[in-house]
Amino acid sequence: MKQRNATKVNGVDISPETIHLARLTEDSERNDIEYIVCDCATLSGLGEFDIVTAVYLLNYTESRDRLLAMLKVICRHLIVGGSFVAYTVNANTLSMNAGNFAKYGVEVISDQPAECGHNCEALFVTTPPTNFNYFKWSRETHDGRYSRLGSRRFHGSPRRSLQKIWPTMLKNIGIISIRTA
Ligand SMILES: C[S@@+](CC[C@H](N)C(=O)[O-])C[C@H]1O[C@@H](n2cnc3c(N)ncnc32)[C@H](O)[C@@H]1O
Repeated sequence: MKQRNATKVNGVDISPETIHLARLTEDSERNDIEYIVCDCATLSGLGEFDIVTAVYLLNYTESRDRLLAMLKVICRHLIVGGSFVAYTVNANTLSMNAGNFAKYGVEVISDQPAECGHNCEALFVTTPPTNFNYFKWSRETHDGRYSRLGSRRFHGSPRRSLQKIWPTMLKNIGIISIRTA
């Protein structure tokens, strides 16, 4: 975004290690991006932005209240008419039989229905493998949270042009994009 002439860009992550790595990149590339270690559900005071993005962040909110808290923080950091763009895990149940995602770097181990969504276990395909948990909120839960914030939500799926590289992903849609206005 900085390379596309944004005047101010901040990167926020709860993990000090992730921010450390981002700052190392900043030291070598000098994009004038400020990185902050903070829980996005409690962040305040960064100002207002035209765009807020969240790439695979919402799927780490382990309760509907946390999801709403995070979306409220995001709204507070948007100008009137600004956009929130997110990629997150598909809220609709994917079928474990329709193909896993190991070849894309993530192997889903389990996908268990829970209240208003799914609890999932997965592995990053690293050596050794790295396990992590994530949450998949139902479409109704997402819709309910966004409408409480007065936002309209647009739902998208991966583009068909990805067919050659991502056939399993397209057959068994694992991600969605969300855009609000
Ligand atoms: C899958 S990574 C995606 C990182 C980055 N968005 C990207 O696309 O490369 C998810 C990140 O969300 C961070 N995260 C999880 N919960 C968070 C929270 N409550 N506040 C801020 N960051 C969080 C994790 O530390 C992790 O770095």
